[in-house]
Amino acid sequence: MKIDVFTLFPAWFDWFSGQRHVRNALELGHELSFTDLRAATPLKAGQVDDTPYGGGAGMVIRVDVVEAALRARYGVDPLELPTRRRMVALTAGGRRLDDALVAELAAEPELTLLCGRYEGFDERVHEHLASDVVSIGPYVLSGGELAAMVVCDAVIRKLPGTLGHEESALEESFSVALEGAPEYPHYTRPFEWRGHRVPEILLSGDHARVREWRHERSRERGAGGA
Ligand code: 6GU
Repeated sequence: MKIDVFTLFPAWFDWFSGQRHVRNALELGHELSFTDLRAATPLKAGQVDDTPYGGGAGMVIRVDVVEAALRARYGVDPLELPTRRRMVALTAGGRRLDDALVAELAAEPELTLLCGRYEGFDERVHEHLASDVVSIGPYVLSGGELAAMVVCDAVIRKLPGTLGHEESALEESFSVALEGAPEYPHYTRPFEWRGHRVPEILLSGDHARVREWRHERSRERGAGGA
């Protein structure tokens, strides 16, 4: 899979790219690229944003700047891009990211993430240069960079071979295997800590009953909206 990130702060991703599961993905042939939205700007002095029409606080990233960055990277008319590949604009007001959307994105051969800053993108970026407008939750971040890392992380751990254990990603929180419920509780040694013991059934060696117990706990957590 190829993931291209467009951002005003490519250096933010240096740390992320060095993480073990990300390096594993790269060694398996997946590709990650970071493009500075400022690098191809047609405006003077590296300008990328402008004051909002209608007034108000903050600055808005210009649609012509995003267009130029995409054209420089892909060499086609950027209006064609959303019909060819998932083009995800990251913004607080977008569609909430969930496991189903992550799975959908992880199945794509190519993915583009557009990170907004300041008050975000000119609306015409969402309408004409993106296929999806995505948010990672109901709170406001200073930019789309952390959100892009969240999307990359969640997508990459779904790619076969990037986690140490292949099963880890199958039966984890919110997965289809757990019918969309959060994961069951995990325990390890010590068996007793400050009077709190591990549930006995986990030491029973009865795999069928352990499975059943775990699925019940997972369903309970789902019902509680955890
Ligand atoms: Cl994708 N961007 C920003 N700026 N804030 C957010 C977000 C994205 N998702 C949640 N809050």
